[in-house]
Amino acid sequence: MLTNSVPLGTGAASNCFVPLFAPLAAPPFSGHEVRMMLEHFKKNLNVDGRGAVLAARGEVPALNGCCLRGYHWHWTRDAALAMDVLQRLVDSTLVCPDKPLVDSIFVTNTVHSYASWEARIQVGQAAVSHTEPKWDPLTAKPYPESWCRPQTDGPGLRARALMQFAAGLGSSEKISLWAMIRFDLDWLAESVNINMVSCDLWEETQDAAMFWNRAIMHAALFEGHKFAESFMDDPVASSKYREAADNLVGDPLINHVVTDDDAFITECPVQGGSASCAKYNKSLDGATLLAVVHTDLVSPASMLSAKTVKAFNIGFCTAYPINQRDSADGVPGVLYGRYLNDTYGGGNPWVLITAALANLLYQAGRSVKNGSDLSPKEIEAWQDALAWRGFTGSIHDFVAAGDSVMSRLHHHIHPSDDFHLYEQIDKNVGQQYNARDLTWSYAEVLSALHVRSRVVGCQMLV
Ligand code: NOJ
Ligand code: NOJ
Repeated sequence: MLTNSVPLGTGAASNCFVPLFAPLAAPPFSGHEVRMMLEHFKKNLNVDGRGAVLAARGEVPALNGCCLRGYHWHWTRDAALAMDVLQRLVDSTLVCPDKPLVDSIFVTNTVHSYASWEARIQVGQAAVSHTEPKWDPLTAKPYPESWCRPQTDGPGLRARALMQFAAGLGSSEKISLWAMIRFDLDWLAESVNINMVSCDLWEETQDAAMFWNRAIMHAALFEGHKFAESFMDDPVASSKYREAADNLVGDPLINHVVTDDDAFITECPVQGGSASCAKYNKSLDGATLLAVVHTDLVSPASMLSAKTVKAFNIGFCTAYPINQRDSADGVPGVLYGRYLNDTYGGGNPWVLITAALANLLYQAGRSVKNGSDLSPKEIEAWQDALAWRGFTGSIHDFVAAGDSVMSRLHHHIHPSDDFHLYEQIDKNVGQQYNARDLTWSYAEVLSALHVRSRVVGCQMLV
């Protein structure tokens, strides 16, 4: 499987990405492995039939025993992203033959329960429901202890997951969900909320203009504008959300791109970020990659994506001994983590962020398939990013690049893990670590494989 890869230089500050020169003959995760991951994922959803989503079922040693009940909480963010991906899997051709991968009745019931659960929060905890990140999965009350608050990505993520669901429902159900969606979008359409100092998605750093938060707000408001127009015949709401996206949020990339030769998207503002942003130095941050993958803001095959990938490769190759060792051994791909100065659990690669990189590369393949050709300069930027002189910008080359990343991820899932995914991969020994069965890890891995299948077709269930 690894024969067509070539190890490259692994010195300090070098790009250690190891490309495969062709897509894998058999997909990076077999049909059987996909089904195992899906089963583990499903166990975290719809807790006791009440609709909550557990962030993870397993132990969380990186918390050092600090926090009540570990990850046995419903995070607004993790849950909404899980619901988003679950709905995409319904008509997925991820596994052949064309038997659906996920039963559509299961998905409808699960998202229905999720919607009722979030309605309980919106009604019962209206004052804090937009900004509290973490909820008791049985009582729907906010986490009672100290935490990084407020967090402003929740309303946008929740509204998006619910719009996706509502779009396929009959008119009376649409109307009742629209009330919930508007509860979040109306909140988002206020500049005081858009510009609120918020914790970042890693729940550590505060700033009024994190890229991830801005990107999600923008996407939610824009989708709200479309939804109001196409389904609700509500021109007033439609223009209100459009106006808020365009003028109150504005272009999330402004003040979020380092514009020298090594251009990349930054999580903290380039100019005038908070002291907290400066302290953690979250310029180069996996959050931006997640924002690219989860919105349409940046074209995945663009120069900016290529340069961002290059900067990340250099950063995370340098930060993680396991990347250097794998590259020297010819293991394709690269592993990414949250940010370079991360210390949570020792500061390791993360499964979900690595999968998001693969997703970005598969999405780039999809955009080429849909007709967007790369310019010679863009091809050059990708050759540089992927340490691959022969890269041509073809659909297959992007799939090969995504497969490289998924191969390295797969390489670190030990047979005894039984395709249970954790949160992190130890940066020294390469073993999975912390928060076994992290819902969000499954969501990003399945999402990346789903996009791959959209580009190259389904994979046999072996
Ligand atoms: C510190 C971690 O860095 C952060 O991401 C996490 O959310 C909190 N501790 C609590 O889990
Ligand atoms: C810690 C992560 O930093 C945060 O983004 C996530 O929401 C929680 N864990 C729960 O998975």
